[in-house]
Amino acid sequence: MEKITAAITGVGSYVPDYRLTNQELETMVETNDEWIVSRTGIKERRILKDENAGTSFMAIRAAEALIENHNVDPQSIELVIVCTASPDLKAASTAVYTASQIGATNAFGFDLDAACSSFLYGMSVAARYIESGKYKRVLLIGADKCSSFIDYTDRATCIIFGDGAGAVLFEPNTEGYGIQDEELRSDGVGREFLNVKAGGSLLHTTEDTVKQGLHYVRQDGKTVFKQAVSKMADISEMILEKNNITHSDIQWMAAHQANKRIIDATANRLGIEKDKVLINIENYGNTTSATLPLLIADFEKQFKKGDRILFTTFGGGFTWGAMIVTWAY
Ligand code: COA
Repeated sequence: MEKITAAITGVGSYVPDYRLTNQELETMVETNDEWIVSRTGIKERRILKDENAGTSFMAIRAAEALIENHNVDPQSIELVIVCTASPDLKAASTAVYTASQIGATNAFGFDLDAACSSFLYGMSVAARYIESGKYKRVLLIGADKCSSFIDYTDRATCIIFGDGAGAVLFEPNTEGYGIQDEELRSDGVGREFLNVKAGGSLLHTTEDTVKQGLHYVRQDGKTVFKQAVSKMADISEMILEKNNITHSDIQWMAAHQANKRIIDATANRLGIEKDKVLINIENYGNTTSATLPLLIADFEKQFKKGDRILFTTFGGGFTWGAMIVTWAY
């Protein structure tokens, strides 16, 4: 039997219109454009201002863009996965709603949350469904309305995060294109360094938790920074070595966009040249589950069939990993 690989065959994205610039943040917290750009590389982020619109609003639009760009019949989609750390609702999947709204009425759906590694883990899950031969069209969406858990008086977090969504379609490939290999890891020691304390089953929301601002994300930025660089570089080195290839065999590095200094340091350690490193953090900030599909969407036109892309992420939990994908079109 022919070997089936899972290839990306289409992409779409959506970011809200509203641009929260560093200049506007200067009026909200004690910060300045020079500090933010030099410490993070971020110039602006997009914010979904409509209070009645949740993550699905962006997931639906990203999926619709894909459907239109690549002329996909929504009824042919068999599975919709929404990677997100900010689902619309608890106990009612954002993916299920998204699937219905885009007309993917033959699909089943579920959400997947591994913080900033959600989309990488999601690519792994999508690949297994395709490689098994069970399904032929899996729609993987990364979407987060980070502004729903940001305290806009906390300069340690509000300068970093933004909202957005991206979608990719996975289909079977028998020529060897698509996902080649992956290494995924997690470590629960990380949960104290980056989390939203209230609103989960450990501490449910009360008047008191709201007063204390425990429904907002908090992080120990320095610890997260150091861990992100070492884990992404270690696991990327491991996957290259395992596949008997070096940095010169990689055409593009697509790393989670959390901080430009983290991406640069990781690329440096791997010896990957600057012009191979995909960066769009200046426009969107850290959109959590959406950074990888937004990169794919923004750089799609530059990819050539057969290009080898190294994906790597690090996120809360901690969660991290690396994946090698060859571009299929
Ligand atoms: N504007 C201006 N000054 C700021 C600031 C801001 N927004 N935030 C912090 N500072 C100040 C600090 O108070 C500190 O001042 P001091 O030296 O007088 O005490 C100084 O800048 C350095 O602060 P520090 O927290 O050490 O900065 P940093 O270089 O570690 O950068 C982050 C902070 C958050 C940008 C960085 O740690 C980071 O990106 N961490 C990883 C975050 C991440 O990836 N999160 C998502 C997980 S995927």
